[in-house]
Formats: sequence, C-alpha cells, structure tokens
Amino acid sequence: MIRPLHFVLATAVAALTSACHGDDMDMDMDGMGHDGMMIPEVLTIPASEGPFEPAAAPDLDSMPNVVEVDLEAKVSEIEIAPERWVSMWTYNGQLPGPRIEASVGDTVRVRFKNSLPEATTIHWHGVRVPAAMDGATVVQSPIEPGAEFSYEFVVPDAGTFWYHPHVRSDEQVERGLYGAFVVRGEGEPATTTDRTVVLDDLLLDSTWQLSEFDTMQAMVGRQGNLILANGWAHPIAHVARGGLHRFRFINAANARYFRLALPGHRLIQIGTDGGLLPAPREVDDLLLVPGERADVLVIAAGTADEAMDWKSLRYDRGHGTGDRPDAVVFQMTNGSDEPIAMPTIPDAFAPIAELPVAVAGRELKLEESMSMSSGGHGAHGSSTSDMGPVFSINGQVYPDATPLEAELDAIEEWSIVNTTEMDHPFHLHGFRFQVVSIDGAATSLVAWRDTINIPAEKTVRFRVHLEDHPGTWMFHCHILEHAERGMMGELEVAGP
Ligand code: C2O
Ligand code: CU
Repeated sequence: MIRPLHFVLATAVAALTSACHGDDMDMDMDGMGHDGMMIPEVLTIPASEGPFEPAAAPDLDSMPNVVEVDLEAKVSEIEIAPERWVSMWTYNGQLPGPRIEASVGDTVRVRFKNSLPEATTIHWHGVRVPAAMDGATVVQSPIEPGAEFSYEFVVPDAGTFWYHPHVRSDEQVERGLYGAFVVRGEGEPATTTDRTVVLDDLLLDSTWQLSEFDTMQAMVGRQGNLILANGWAHPIAHVARGGLHRFRFINAANARYFRLALPGHRLIQIGTDGGLLPAPREVDDLLLVPGERADVLVIAAGTADEAMDWKSLRYDRGHGTGDRPDAVVFQMTNGSDEPIAMPTIPDAFAPIAELPVAVAGRELKLEESMSMSSGGHGAHGSSTSDMGPVFSINGQVYPDATPLEAELDAIEEWSIVNTTEMDHPFHLHGFRFQVVSIDGAATSLVAWRDTINIPAEKTVRFRVHLEDHPGTWMFHCHILEHAERGMMGELEVAGP
C-alpha cells in the first residue's frame, strides 16, 4: 500500500481542526448550519485497502441448526484508516462487531461477556425475538461490567438485521458497538457477490479520537466528520467486472442519513428491513435512515480497473443538515479481466400479503422542545442535565411515559405525526410493519419494515400485526440522542 498519506492526512487533520476544534470563532463559522446547529464538515480521505468485509463470526456449535457465537464487549484500539488508530468500544475487538450469519429457523445462541467499564445489553434490531431476549432495559437488567449473559432465540425471517446496545445507546453505539446479523432464506437471488456494508460516521477531534459527548450535539443528533464503511474510511470493494453484486446496507450511524448513489449506475433494490421485496425496483438513489437496512444489486459496468465511488448525496433532514455537500462512502473497483457472465436478475420474489384493515388505531405525536433542566432522568445522570433539547411522544418524555396497551394478535394502524421541523426515523421493536401512507399519499410498495423515516411536519401511517410475542416492546426515534432524551415509549402486548 503505497500512497502519499502524510500529506493527505495532514491536510485532513487541518480541515478537522478548523471544523471542530479551532477557536470558537472558527467553529461557529464553519461548523454551524443556517439555523445554528452543529453540522460538521466531512473529511475527504483517499481510498485505501481495508478489510472490506471481514469473515463472519465462527459458529462454535457443530449442530446444523444451531449458531453459537461468543461476543465480548471491550475497549480496543481500532485502525480506521491507514495508521490511524482510535480507541473504540467493540465486540471482540472488531469494528463492526463480527457478522452473525444464520438461516431461517436456526437457533442462535450468543454467549455475551461485558468487559466494558459500564453496563450494557444487546438488542437484535429487526429480529423478531421473544421479549425477554430483546435487550431493552424494560425486559432485562443491564449486564454489569464483568458479567455474562446468554441470548438465545430462533430466527424466523430472512433479511439483513443488526445488533447494538440498548443502554445509553447514543454513546455506546457511537463508540463502536454494532454488528451485522444476516439471515438467509429460500429464494435468495443468485449473485456474483453478497456483501454486508455497515455504515457509520464518527465525530473525531483534532487528535483523531472520538470528540467529547456534549448536549449541543443532541438537537440534530451526533453527526460525524468521518464516514466509515465496515469500520474503515473510504475502503475499496473489489468486484468482478460485469458481475451482479449484492450489497446489504445497514445504517448504524447515530444520526446521519445516508442517501446512497453510485453515479453512472442504477441501483436495483431487492430488500428492505424485513427481507426481500415482492419484486426488484430500480432507483437512482436510496435513502437509508439510522437503523434502516436495504439490499441492493448493482451491475459492475464500466471499464477494466475502473474505480467508482459510492456517495451519500446531500439530504436535508432539517436544521441546516442539507447545507453539507455529497460525501464519499466507499469505492468499488472493477477487476482487470474481461466482463464475466452475469446471473439473471429475477423478475419477482415471494409475494408479501398486504395486512388487512386494522381493528385499532393509534396516533403518536413526535415533539421537541428546549429545557432548562434535564427532561429524562436516570439514563444520563448529570451529563445531559441543565439546558438542552427534550424530545417527547404525545407529551411524554421517556422514561416518564405511560406504556401503551395492546392485545396479542391485533392488527393496528399507527399514525406517526411529526410535529417538528426535522425528520425522525421511527423504530418499533418485536414486530414488522407495512407503511400504508406518507403525508396522506397511499404507498404502492408493499414491504416489511421496522424503521421508517417520518419527514419533518409530515405523518406516516403503518399497519402492524402484533403476533406471536407478548411482552413489553420499545418504540423510539433511531436518532439515538433523541431516543435517550425522551423520544421513546413502551408498548405492552398482553398475552392470551
Ligand atoms: Cu436499533 Cu431500540 O433500536
Ligand atoms: Cu428523532
């Protein structure tokens, strides 16, 4: 790997210094959006060979339908760009944590040890697990430093899922605690490659360590100045020219919206949060909000050895976030051989039955305000007390919120009303839903989701079948600073 790193990185550090840690005047001028929110500039880093997609976690159980994985959360030094090491919180010393791979119907057992300096849990985002295995603190006491816990559940659905803590998630996820969870089922399309890309951004200070966590970041969520794909800044994905390549994208960032595009290429979306769509759909770009996943096929067109950058296009989610230009995410580089024969793209996958008209409806209003004292208590102690933004749902700031009550097996229609001037990505645990309308317009795409963007000042309606799993389930904004400052609630699904 020979490249003029010193020059480039010195330039990058200079940019970082002025964007984040110059004197106050510089910071105000450079780091603020038009209404005064902190939206840092993204560093431009040359593409380099990182471990684009590391091996999956080894399966420690020899039984064919059991996947057993050891995970240990611990502090580790992680290389995120050539010779740039950052102190992170990791699973097994890796960023992202080891990818867990299973097939539909498998029993997955994760023997977890907490070697962090604070308590944590693991939430299996999007996997329909029994409530006791969900990792939310309403169903599980946090696992203390030095303690262990075994998670065990059957995986019912194919799709691209992920895992992360559900304790002080704004800080724990930003520090690096996240990993991919891929479940394969029948009817997967044949592709040349099938790779997982976990997207993140870090907010680094001028010494290339995580910058301090501060309340000022909470309003728009902590948006970073360095974009990572699979834990590396601007990595290279080598592809066979002419091939059909599947990328399973996971947005693990606290707050950044990735609007993915590969200039010169059309993207063929085949899956959402909850597995394959009924049919592939072509798009020019794809918005992926925090917590959300998408499966995309791309044909590696272009010339031999051509290097093409996947980008995250400008997107305005409110409060000046649209002022930042397009940013580079990772590079895709063609091989030098003649184009290979491409597998055919199926016209259709298994149909998804539309959920029938709901028996019950609810309305959830997402709200924000400023406070002189901490709205939530407990979760953050003194670090977020005093002045700062407070987020609520139907006037209640979690954990001071009355749980919603529901009957097992009900089909409900939820209206999520965003009363604020910025978008919020809404996530429901334990169940998958079908969006029926956005801002009053019916959606034609039938898909399973567990995370959906609620655009600023708009309403999204979805239907959900509260099947199989009684218990208490969380719902919240997946901008983790918002969730941890009150935009969260509980749904109690009563058993039979
Ligand atoms: Cu991915 Cu409750 O979160
Ligand atoms: Cu939010």
